[in-house]
Amino acid sequence: MIRGLMLFAAAAALASTAGWLGTPRVLYRQQTQPVAFSHKVHNEKGGMACTDCHSLRADGSFAGIPALAKCAECHTAAMGETKAEAAFIADYVTPNREPQWLSYARQPDNAWFPHGAHIMRAKLGCENCHGGQGKSDKLPLLEVNRISGYSRDVMGRPGKSGMRMDACVHCHEQRGMRHACLDCHK
Ligand code: HEC
Ligand code: HEC
Ligand code: HEC
Ligand code: HEC
Ligand code: HEC
Repeated sequence: MIRGLMLFAAAAALASTAGWLGTPRVLYRQQTQPVAFSHKVHNEKGGMACTDCHSLRADGSFAGIPALAKCAECHTAAMGETKAEAAFIADYVTPNREPQWLSYARQPDNAWFPHGAHIMRAKLGCENCHGGQGKSDKLPLLEVNRISGYSRDVMGRPGKSGMRMDACVHCHEQRGMRHACLDCHK
């Protein structure tokens, strides 16, 4: 009887810990981006295409997040009257300081992902893997899993597959491709 009760108490404690761990705030550490950057503003007011900032280099490798020099082409002086732009110029452009952007999609160092093959050869749109990020008006908080260190966008949210190995392999298999471990791992 006492043993049963103890087991019950232990199970209840475990269940409530699991419930507690299940809440995003506890499982994920939240980080804020350095600049209030709006993709929407640059698309609509700046008339810019994705590849104006996220280009492939001449050797086919992906340039990723643009460096400050790209932003300074337009922002040495304010173009509008928003607080976000004034703060960006004062904190980064004028002192020539690179913003420490946080990446939502970054994979662990031992995994290799070539953008060129997916954008140029497979002709996949950015939104296939990144969702609506390129159209957003506000950068979301980055949520980092406290245990694995992965971003929540890599881990996958409820109902979404994320960008884990399963998702890569699933799409490849659907298209009749089989890649060896070393095609994606260093
Ligand atoms: C004016 C330059 C600029 C343009 C144009 C631009 N971006 Fe970005 N983009 C950025 C900057 C700066 C970041 C870094 C902030 C971040 O990580 O979200 C970023 C981040 C991203 C990310 C997040 C990557 C990650 O994992 O952190 C995606 C996805 C993205 N851009 C897609 C797009 C798409 C799609 C378009 C076109 C519709 C586009 N971008 C146009 C500057 C630009
Ligand atoms: C081709 C020119 C151009 C480039 C390059 C450019 N921007 Fe802009 N940016 C604009 C325009 C146009 C606006 C809107 C100004 C206005 O009317 O308020 C803007 C607005 C902004 C704002 C204010 C956002 C808001 O909510 O209105 C920030 C912050 C900003 N840009 C950061 C960046 C960063 C960071 C980069 C480099 C990754 C960059 N810009 C590259 C043209 C550019
Ligand atoms: C097949 C899926 C897929 C497609 C299509 C795709 N991406 Fe990505 N993207 C990824 C993955 C996976 C990563 C993480 C790569 C890494 O960590 O090496 C990433 C990373 C990024 C980053 C962050 C780079 C960094 O330094 O962390 C940016 C910016 C980005 N992608 C923009 C784009 C844009 C713009 C397009 C469309 C032109 C695009 N992506 C198309 C899967 C994709
Ligand atoms: C199509 C690309 C692809 C192929 C093929 C692939 N992997 Fe991966 N793998 C990844 C990516 C991306 C990650 C990082 C994201 C994650 O952990 O799911 C990863 C993660 C892993 C991890 C770490 C898991 C973790 O969560 O930390 C191991 C171990 C691994 N792969 C082993 C293998 C082995 C063994 C093979 C061959 C049978 C293989 N992979 C084939 C893309 C691939
Ligand atoms: C939505 C579908 C899709 C997703 C998701 C996807 N891929 Fe691919 N991948 C493709 C296609 C299609 C090709 C073949 C492109 C070609 O050569 O025509 C490819 C090719 C590749 C190649 C071979 C490149 C070369 O030069 O031969 C690697 C490596 C690769 N993918 C890794 C990854 C990794 C890692 C992920 C996950 C982070 C991933 N892929 C997610 C569709 C996808």
